[in-house]
Amino acid sequence: MEFYKSEVLEMRSVLITGASRGIGNSIAKRLLEDGHRISIGIRKGTTIKGELNKKVEMYSKNMMVSEYDSLSKKLADKWVDKTIKNYGSIDTIIHCAGIFRGTKFLYEESEEADIEQLWRVNVLAPWYLTRIAWKYLISNKESRVITLVSLSGKRSKGNLAGYSMSKFALMSLCQTMRNEGWNHGLRVTAICPSWVNTDMAKNINTINKSEMTQPEDIASICSNIISLPNSCVPFEISINCNLEK
Ligand SMILES: NC(=O)c1ccc[n+]([C@@H]2O[C@H](COP(=O)([O-])OP(=O)(O)OC[C@H]3O[C@@H](n4cnc5c(N)ncnc54)[C@H](OP(=O)(O)O)[C@@H]3O)[C@@H](O)[C@H]2O)c1
Repeated sequence: MEFYKSEVLEMRSVLITGASRGIGNSIAKRLLEDGHRISIGIRKGTTIKGELNKKVEMYSKNMMVSEYDSLSKKLADKWVDKTIKNYGSIDTIIHCAGIFRGTKFLYEESEEADIEQLWRVNVLAPWYLTRIAWKYLISNKESRVITLVSLSGKRSKGNLAGYSMSKFALMSLCQTMRNEGWNHGLRVTAICPSWVNTDMAKNINTINKSEMTQPEDIASICSNIISLPNSCVPFEISINCNLEK
């Protein structure tokens, strides 16, 4: 039997948000090691944590760092322009920037600003960034958008209203991006973990940190996703580190 082996881009130009630390940081490090060109957007005054920081020099040809804040459209525009100027293309976006707030359903009036922040950082920002990079993404037939959603984008736990609301909306956005991009060869993946061992989960004490999903393992999943052909890219990856009954 003869199998058809489709081509997959070997060296990608990847925009990554949230790479200063946590999951995005691990993904950026892994993709650099895999030989991709990465463009990181971080907030002013933020330092890149861990080993990735040491690689800035070592991988200078394949790594660029720009100022980016999820709350600023202007910075998003500048970052995309700068990346195109340097790399000539953007074929992959990995959305990792995100915030957590414990806003409950019966929130206090003083918490309204948190709801607004969740909406802007977790939903509107990835929407805007993908929208302005869209023409570059669809100019080749193998683009990828990977979004760190959460299991909170699939089920609502207890009274955690604000964060879940933002992640359900993000999941819906992922579905629409998939629909819009499909015929252009763009594939979207929504990654939906439970707890991941990063700063975001540092106050969680219902599970040991070592039993949480590790950011390096999510990086490994991303590395794999972007090497898969269009016919095999999973749309959704749910990851449980603990059994939810
Ligand atoms: N950790 C978990 O248990 C877990 C589980 C499921 C899903 N997720 C999702 O996975 C994604 C990454 O989470 P994480 O665990 O890596 O979180 P993290 O360790 O708290 O890191 C968050 C990242 O987002 C960036 N960020 C926050 N606000 C920003 C803004 N306004 N503009 C630009 N960047 C901003 C942070 O930059 P600074 O360093 O400048 O603050 C940091 O790089 C998030 O969307 C999160 O909701 C996490």
